Amino acid sequence: MADREDEDLNEVIDDIVDKDDQQSGDEAEDQRQQQASRPQAQQKLLPGVKNIIAVASGKGGVGKSTIAVNLAAGLARNGASVGLLDTDIYGPSVPTMFGVHERPNITTEKKLIPIEKYGVRLLSMGLLVDTDQATVWRGPMVTSAVKQFMQDAEWGNLDYMVLDLPPGTGDIQLTIVQNVPLSGAVIVSTPQNVALDDARKGVAMFRKVDVPVLGIVENMAYFTPPELPDKKYYIFGKHGARNQAKKMDVPFLGEIPIEQSIRETSDEGTPIVLQDVHSKTAQAFIELCNRVAQQVAKRTNKQQDADDIDINFVE
Ligand SMILES: Nc1ncnc2c1ncn2[C@@H]1O[C@H](COP(=O)(O)OP(=O)(O)O)[C@@H](O)[C@H]1O
Ligand SMILES: [Mg+2]
Repeated sequence: MADREDEDLNEVIDDIVDKDDQQSGDEAEDQRQQQASRPQAQQKLLPGVKNIIAVASGKGGVGKSTIAVNLAAGLARNGASVGLLDTDIYGPSVPTMFGVHERPNITTEKKLIPIEKYGVRLLSMGLLVDTDQATVWRGPMVTSAVKQFMQDAEWGNLDYMVLDLPPGTGDIQLTIVQNVPLSGAVIVSTPQNVALDDARKGVAMFRKVDVPVLGIVENMAYFTPPELPDKKYYIFGKHGARNQAKKMDVPFLGEIPIEQSIRETSDEGTPIVLQDVHSKTAQAFIELCNRVAQQVAKRTNKQQDADDIDINFVE
């Protein structure tokens, strides 16, 4: 990248990092109270984006980024225009899982240009800042940076923007979901009780701020040894998230098995949903993409759009 552009990018990054450093607690509280004006924000923040979907979990390490990455790649594979915004500044995984490590370019108006890979436009804190230093970021700084990623980037027109949220249901997550015009949330949980407790908190958080919960996906639902393709071992318990979804009256979006190839493709930056589409695992992700698209369409009354993007992955 030319020196000049590099300088400009650094300026943009400084702006993202510094902007809210001096924000007072009062201002943060004001931000929280702006929730009432969410519909207005929705029109202004990302006018070209039809649906913003948050992928969330109460707990870290349950596969939220894995789901977000494969959801974005799967929807794009089917022809939708898709953005992927990694807001997990404490542990951004999207660059690794998409195999993207270059810094984004900027326009002459100093807008970030999302990096495009696998037909997905993406931005991640991990592409811009040294995330070792981000551990001291306070909530308002994160929210402000997320907003800037939306406002000051050339996303263009998108059918979906997938947001990979930081794990948990604390102040930071709450502030993001209040300030971003979300169409709905996908909650990721593994089947065991400790994860389900946190998934419940996740559902409660979205309900509190009136963001529709599109459903719960059960990750690491079972293990099938390659040499015993008809066996399913329920390592973390059977149907935990499925039952929880029923109890909370939210849609169940499907089961993703625990599988070595999912971990490997994550580390290699080649999302499994784009690999052997006939494999059971890729099919599980394709089904998940379908269900999420259906739930989004249901909630936005755009059944026509949903029909247009009906997933049909035939090679
Ligand atoms: N279904 C799965 N099968 C195998 N490994 C998985 C699966 N889901 C996630 N992983 C692996 O577990 C780790 C944590 O997943 P990640 O998506 O980063 O979780 P989170 O974003 O919730 O912290 C990663 O190394 C990922 O590759
Ligand atoms: Mg993650």
